[in-house]
Amino acid sequence: RFRMDYDSLLKACEEDLKTVDAIHQYDQVKSRYLGAKSVLKQQLSTLSSMPKAQKAVQGKAIHQFKRSLETLFATKKDSLEEALERARLAEDCVDVTVDSVAYWKGAEHPLSLTQKRLVSMFAKLGFDLVDGPEIETFYYNFTALNTPKYHPAVTSQDTFYLSNGSLLRSHTSSVQIRMMEQHKPPLRVISPGRVFRADTPDATHSPCFMQCEGLVVDTASSLLDLRATLVNILEGFFEKKLKVRFRSSFFPFTEPSFECDIWFNGQWLEVFGCGMVHPNVLENVGVDSSIYQGFAFGMGIERLTMLRYNIDDIRLLYEGDQAFLQQFSEDGL
Ligand code: PHE
Repeated sequence: RFRMDYDSLLKACEEDLKTVDAIHQYDQVKSRYLGAKSVLKQQLSTLSSMPKAQKAVQGKAIHQFKRSLETLFATKKDSLEEALERARLAEDCVDVTVDSVAYWKGAEHPLSLTQKRLVSMFAKLGFDLVDGPEIETFYYNFTALNTPKYHPAVTSQDTFYLSNGSLLRSHTSSVQIRMMEQHKPPLRVISPGRVFRADTPDATHSPCFMQCEGLVVDTASSLLDLRATLVNILEGFFEKKLKVRFRSSFFPFTEPSFECDIWFNGQWLEVFGCGMVHPNVLENVGVDSSIYQGFAFGMGIERLTMLRYNIDDIRLLYEGDQAFLQQFSEDGL
């Protein structure tokens, strides 16, 4: 009688499984060996019609064959799932060492950075941020600031005149007048912005630059407050203790007047002009100078920027050179 060669079948199954590397192939092979039309099923179905003695022997062999097949498929299933999982992980994995795509991320201009820093530091001292026009009249830029037409200070702040008689403001001090006209004291404001002078550009001059004006008017603000405010701002801005010097100077709209210098890299450097608001200026805008007093200051935003970031030519700040400006990007990109 014909006897099944289970060993050869098992071998064949093993060989077939070796070529399987996807679930659908696995299912095909499995149904070939364990499915309804498989040799196994066929053999199992012959059992019932066998004589008892033969049935015992055959049955044992068939069931042994069945278990062996099942073990083969279970083992294959495990290793197949593991391989698939490994492939999936390899595909999903992010290689953090690969260079990112280069892209330009905008950087804030160093002058904007300085302006922002000043505004936020002054805000902490209770200063409001205000604005004034860049095109001014002679009155706001000079006359109201105690600087009549014949005054030599008009020449020293020579600027650009428009055909209608207006001018480009030579300093932000014009905002002092506008603020005092619009608001009753007490006043505590700063006003950063562009100013213009008829200067030939060089490493330290530019016909257009930026200032930040400050004005405090109340009944008691003194030179001491002026000094304390400005030292606080300077040390906050440069993030270190500074040697600060107030040198007697002259401005038509302050009395007394000072230039403020800081000791920087082994030399005194002028960082701004300041003083107590001249009584004539208060009177020009209808503020009673027998009740009110105050102080004013004007700082050069370029000068502060150049000192803070070690920039040696003011023109770099206006050229729009990407390579230069990207250095000020927060993350250096
Ligand atoms: N406006 C002056 C300048 O441009 C600076 C200044 C402002 C001085 C306020 C005193 C008070 O040089």
